[in-house]
Amino acid sequence: MNASADTLETIPMVEDEISADSPANSVIAVASRNVHLQHWQDILQANLEVAEQSPPLLVSGRLTKVTGLVMEAVGLRMAVGSTCIIQLPNNQVEAEVVGFSGDKLFLMPEVDVQGLVPGARVIPFESAGKAARPGQHRRTADLARHLPVGEMLLGRVLDGAGRPLDQHGPLPDGPTSALQSRPINPLDRAPIKEALDVGVRAINALLTVGRGQRMGLFAGSGVGKSILLGMMARYTTADVIVVGLIGERGREVKEFITDILGTEGLKRAVVVAAPADTSPLLRLQGAAYATTIAEFFRDQGKNVLLIMDSLTRYAMAQREIALAIGEPPATKGYPPSVFAKLPQLVERAGNGIDGGGSITAFYTVLTEGDDQQDPIADSARAILDGHIVLSRRLVEQGHYPAIEIEASISRAMNNLVSTAHFSQVQHFKLLYAHYQRNRDLISVGAYVQGSDPLLDEAILMHPRLSHFLRQDMHEADHFIESMNAFSSLFDQAN
Ligand SMILES: Nc1ncnc2c1ncn2[C@@H]1O[C@H](COP(=O)(O)OP(=O)(O)OP(=O)(O)O)[C@@H](O)[C@H]1O
Ligand SMILES: [Mg+2]
Repeated sequence: MNASADTLETIPMVEDEISADSPANSVIAVASRNVHLQHWQDILQANLEVAEQSPPLLVSGRLTKVTGLVMEAVGLRMAVGSTCIIQLPNNQVEAEVVGFSGDKLFLMPEVDVQGLVPGARVIPFESAGKAARPGQHRRTADLARHLPVGEMLLGRVLDGAGRPLDQHGPLPDGPTSALQSRPINPLDRAPIKEALDVGVRAINALLTVGRGQRMGLFAGSGVGKSILLGMMARYTTADVIVVGLIGERGREVKEFITDILGTEGLKRAVVVAAPADTSPLLRLQGAAYATTIAEFFRDQGKNVLLIMDSLTRYAMAQREIALAIGEPPATKGYPPSVFAKLPQLVERAGNGIDGGGSITAFYTVLTEGDDQQDPIADSARAILDGHIVLSRRLVEQGHYPAIEIEASISRAMNNLVSTAHFSQVQHFKLLYAHYQRNRDLISVGAYVQGSDPLLDEAILMHPRLSHFLRQDMHEADHFIESMNAFSSLFDQAN
């Protein structure tokens, strides 16, 4: 500061020597003021550089307790959701602040930790992150870790922390993004008004899905969820496919990538895998990361298909964390925060602002033994824009994809297809359901033809309807073909 004071004294006060009446003199006056201003700007800039180079104060806390999944630390004041580093003698572990009580912070590690010691040093992690745009405030999420997003992720398989799991080497440098995005004003979102070709006949024609729609795939185990999702990923006309494999078996991850998605499918896909043996935090993060990647491509104007397998395992990871930090269980062991987290995740999918890209999403929901009372299934059904139910009964008949058409619904469909098509779909469902209800009667020969005209039509049409719904997993059926095949179903009958 002394230096600047000295310099100030040596500046010639040119203005005093100029008389103000001639125009030439006033030009000189302005120029001399600029010299003065420039001088001060240079001084301030020099001081700013000194301030920026000075090392920040290192704040740290100490680890006081570890019970099961949760660690407690004291001596730090950090916001929930922010990241910190625990320094161990030989390595360091990343953890997230998941709660607090008085002065104690509850931390959850990102990986399973060995070698924690009492009193280990805990240091807040502050990413350089991205500055908030003008008019936006800087949030905790902006300070937390940013993960890679961008075109360079296409064809790659990553874990929930953005580290490559495949053998294609480290990720090249590219853009990064915060895991929690800013919500889009619902009034700015483009409405769902254009159908998305998913390459599956039964869905294209009977459960038409719109760009930006969020669907649930409700099914028990082993009824063909992964195969159906893989078919959509391979055959859809979406520009980019983002797959989040959350909490499923590790073996399934490899199977999904090599057998179901295949090299062709993987070319325009990004897979984020956080299998069951990873920490619950990484599983939650994996789902958020897959959504962040999808949002990046949507913001580039792309139509994205986001596949999340499964939403139930995501809820279970949140349950593990919430119970570990002492939240009381409410519905069937699930604490209330689980039901708050689900819509937060799902609402991030959907259309962007008018004229931008879209995220069409499929979330699988486990319904064991047709348990429609399962709280996660119940909650998911309420927050999604439709559900496709896969049934074990159809699997037992060798009917694939095992979509139970009567129980499935696409809530945006009436905005996407013509009224005539929509009423034909209702008729299809009516005939199909009527046949299923009377199936036993028909098979034992107890039904007398002519006693129920609707059932007569259902029996006549059933082989054709059933054939229409079946599709080989290696065969694609594009939107126009599906629609034409559907309308010719009833033409043939007449
Ligand atoms: N479209 C299809 N055509 C022929 N067979 C199929 C089809 N879909 C599923 N299957 C059969 O069903 C089996 C289980 O399918 P898949 O692995 O997709 O089920 P899942 O619901 O994902 O199971 P999990 O609950 O274990 O994840 C497959 O191994 C395959 O034999
Ligand atoms: Mg599966």
